[in-house]
Amino acid sequence: MLGKQKNKRRRSLYLLLGIGACIFLMVQCSSSKRDSDSGDLTYIPYQPQPFTLQESDRFVKMQIPADNPLTEQGITLGRQLFFDPILSADSTQSCASCHQPDKAFTDGLSKSKGVHKLEGRRSAMSLVNVGYFYKGLFWDGRVPSLEAQALIPVEDSLEMGNTWEVVEKRLRQHPDYPSLFRQAFGSTCTDSIDRFLVAKAIAQYERTLVSYNAPYDQVMRGEAVFTVAEKRGFDIFFDASSSLPVSECGHCHLDPLFTNLDFLNNGIQKVGTLDNFPDKGRGAITGVYYDNGQFRVPSLRNIELTAPYMHDGRFKTLEAVIDHYASGGHFAENLNPNVRKLHLSARDKADLIAFLRTLTDTSGRIVPVLENPL
Ligand code: HEC
Ligand code: HEC
Repeated sequence: MLGKQKNKRRRSLYLLLGIGACIFLMVQCSSSKRDSDSGDLTYIPYQPQPFTLQESDRFVKMQIPADNPLTEQGITLGRQLFFDPILSADSTQSCASCHQPDKAFTDGLSKSKGVHKLEGRRSAMSLVNVGYFYKGLFWDGRVPSLEAQALIPVEDSLEMGNTWEVVEKRLRQHPDYPSLFRQAFGSTCTDSIDRFLVAKAIAQYERTLVSYNAPYDQVMRGEAVFTVAEKRGFDIFFDASSSLPVSECGHCHLDPLFTNLDFLNNGIQKVGTLDNFPDKGRGAITGVYYDNGQFRVPSLRNIELTAPYMHDGRFKTLEAVIDHYASGGHFAENLNPNVRKLHLSARDKADLIAFLRTLTDTSGRIVPVLENPL
């Protein structure tokens, strides 16, 4: 009895909310009609086509939020927004200015440059397989989701230097975008185009940036074989042969993503105490002293394309990276014990790099989404 009454009350509440929402939308559309004549979008069909992401069965399946499923139309819109400088204050910078497809979505700089050529704090991160990075985005893991991340660069003064109010206005008045938002999200009028839909579309596009068809993957699937040098490099990387020296790399850069997504100190920075890191990384987010100088272990997929290396871009080449690890790095209280002096010959180092190059995915599989649509 009681349950039934509760249901009834709930149903009338929903009805009221529904009517309220309708009136709200009608008012919204009619007000924008007065402004621009293009408020109503309901004449454009809304028939989103679900998009099935092709994934590697060696990866744990991507978790896609229930309120932002992948659709053809959402991805198309997200890709357009990603490459469009309309998001930045002076219309010079798009997401792709710093995340360039041919550099595995990085920019080739130690520290990224934003609008007005202002230098940022850190090196741009590759977006390949970013849909699988669940333990927090950015070098310090401070953002929980791609939807939340996509809201940030627009208003970052060192990146796009804009405000969302300006971007929303530009998109609502644009000749093409309102129709794309209608097709992707069913927006009924231009005024309902907002930053949250922009972020959702970009996040959908980013989830399609998957890479699992590098020469390495072909070897793992039994479709190709390593060269002698690559195989030696593989064995050294994963400490897999008792007749070769160990490198400890595989503890942190795990197969198949080549990261364990943890926040660790790999000893690149010389400091007196943990308070002295010029960039405290994870510690600045958690406030925990021991986390200072810890950064998220980056994936090594496509590493050949993403120089310079580390959060501050301090190493220009893979040779310099290997020399760093071989030296054992700088000691600190929280230096991970897997970073320690290695006994690698010149040949071992060269073979490690030969192996790392097998992680470069130039296959056609990610090419259709890599193209700049503009
Ligand atoms: C001025 C250069 C620049 C622009 C423009 C830019 N980014 Fe970035 N991006 C970076 C840098 C630098 C980082 C690392 C920042 C940090 O760790 O604090 C980053 C990190 C990211 C990450 C985190 C990746 C990971 O593995 O955790 C995502 C996702 C991302 N950017 C997406 C975008 C999107 C979407 C846009 C456009 C809306 C954009 N970026 C615009 C430079 C840029
Ligand atoms: C203790 C865990 C750990 C071990 C062991 C380790 N790494 Fe790393 N690696 C990291 C972390 C953390 C970073 C990012 C550090 C930063 O930017 O401050 C990183 C960064 C890198 C980068 C730069 C990636 C980029 O996108 O800039 C390369 C290349 C790399 N490691 C290769 C290796 C190789 C090769 C080995 C073995 C010789 C190895 N790593 C061993 C944790 C580790």
